[in-house]
Amino acid sequence: MEVIKAKSAGFCFGVKKAMETVYQQIEENANKPIYTFGPLIHNEEVVKELKSKGVEVVDSVEELKALKDGIVIIRSHGVSKDIYKIMEDNGITCVDATCPFVKRIHKIVDKESALGKKIIVIGNDGHPEVEGIKGWSNTPAVVIEKEEEALEFSCKLDEKICIVSQTTFNYNKFKELVEIFEKKGYDISVVNTICNATEERQTEAKKIAAEADVMIVIGGTHSSNTRKLYEICKNECENTHFIQTLDDLNLELPKSVRLVGITAGASTPNNIIEEVQNYVRINF
Ligand code: F3S
Repeated sequence: MEVIKAKSAGFCFGVKKAMETVYQQIEENANKPIYTFGPLIHNEEVVKELKSKGVEVVDSVEELKALKDGIVIIRSHGVSKDIYKIMEDNGITCVDATCPFVKRIHKIVDKESALGKKIIVIGNDGHPEVEGIKGWSNTPAVVIEKEEEALEFSCKLDEKICIVSQTTFNYNKFKELVEIFEKKGYDISVVNTICNATEERQTEAKKIAAEADVMIVIGGTHSSNTRKLYEICKNECENTHFIQTLDDLNLELPKSVRLVGITAGASTPNNIIEEVQNYVRINF
């Protein structure tokens, strides 16, 4: 039996950078309170480890407003403009670990909306990255996730629209939704802001899943990019398992299984992936 681990499995560039930032802060500021605004990544193991090193999670804007000192690290998802303002007003040191690809979206949204354009974000409403992006728009932004929402959308035909995407959105779905807006005859400019890391991870996962008899997707249950990876793999390979850590893996592999594929979401630490890979290699 062969085990193939996707090369693109695990931490992406932005998450690696955010992790490095936090560890650097722990080293340099041992005597100051350190917080992350929201859990640093969607991985409970990592959040637990950081807590053991004294890094607390600030979970809401109210909690943030109540802080009077310390360092707050902005995670790779980014935040809206007003969050920076709250920190500045409260004298909190802000360490910005927003992924540069997300920062790029903030800049586009800020600039285009300042020109009067309506901003459409293709993504999952309520996801922190999308909330952050919306918070850079100078005009009310609209979030579109499903075909029905795109079909229902209407605005004046002379209104200019700028469409961006959540970085982890599925590329094909993005294209389909953009086509709906194009067909409606709106004056739109489209910026594909889907991150390459996601596209690459999705394409590679799809390819491996198409050949695999069993596919294992590792990641946090709250991680939207891991859930999408799971959907893609499940479409190709009926026998797809979604696990957070090795403990969740209940595999019984029949002798006919020739190929097991493994991939993991952007917030899955390498040691968890290695553990699963070694377990499957040794036990089957
Ligand atoms: Fe950044 Fe892409 Fe990762 S946007 S956080 S490198 S998935």
